[in-house]
Amino acid sequence: MTIIAFISQKGGVGKSTLARALAVEAQKQKLSVLLADCDQQQATSYQWLQLRKKSKFKVEIFPTAQQALREANKYDLTIIDGPARTSHATLEIAQKANLVIQPTGASRDDLIPAVKEFNALVKAEVSKKKLLFVLTRLSTPAEAKAIQNYLKNAGYHYSSFYLMEKTSYKQAQNEGKSITETKYPGLTNQAKQLITSLLDYLD
Ligand SMILES: Nc1ncnc2c1ncn2[C@@H]1O[C@H](COP(=O)(O)OP(=O)(O)OP(=O)(O)O)[C@@H](O)[C@H]1O
Ligand SMILES: [Mg+2]
Repeated sequence: MTIIAFISQKGGVGKSTLARALAVEAQKQKLSVLLADCDQQQATSYQWLQLRKKSKFKVEIFPTAQQALREANKYDLTIIDGPARTSHATLEIAQKANLVIQPTGASRDDLIPAVKEFNALVKAEVSKKKLLFVLTRLSTPAEAKAIQNYLKNAGYHYSSFYLMEKTSYKQAQNEGKSITETKYPGLTNQAKQLITSLLDYLD
């Protein structure tokens, strides 16, 4: 039983995007997967599943993260698609999860609160080892280098793969697909490398 959680203070950074792609790729590896949509108001991942035909993984909406965590023992992998801005629930999620992923954009405005969020978890005695930044929605690869340096100085782990901002990623999701299922082999591959590295990170 493994729990991977996507959290962030900021909205729109790519939690649901990465959570869905991870569910798709994990299911391809024959794992039993629960994608727990913990944003009852938006229910982004749940709505997306309705567009998606014959998915073999389960997407369920949970009013609280606690309820989702209670289901985790029934699956090989539980993916928590967290809501933005919920500090109290975030700590409980982080304590129970094997890996806590915080997607972040490239601007200083994104990075400062993102680092603060992880600092708060470390202060509450969550191990730094299970906290991971993933860079998302980047305009250029050069941006990645700068952010990676910033995060290294802050003392956090980050994925060496990152996600570029691409209309095709949005489009794929509009059609009930994941970012690992776009029309363009190059973009699909980049997303797959990132998602696979997240699964590998657990080993
Ligand atoms: N790499 C990308 N390229 C283009 N569009 C993207 C990318 N990542 C995410 N998006 C789009 O940005 C929007 C926000 O992404 P997403 O829903 O994954 O963020 P979120 O962190 O789950 O947001 P929230 O905090 O509101 O739950 C969506 O419309 C999504 O399709
Ligand atoms: Mg979301």
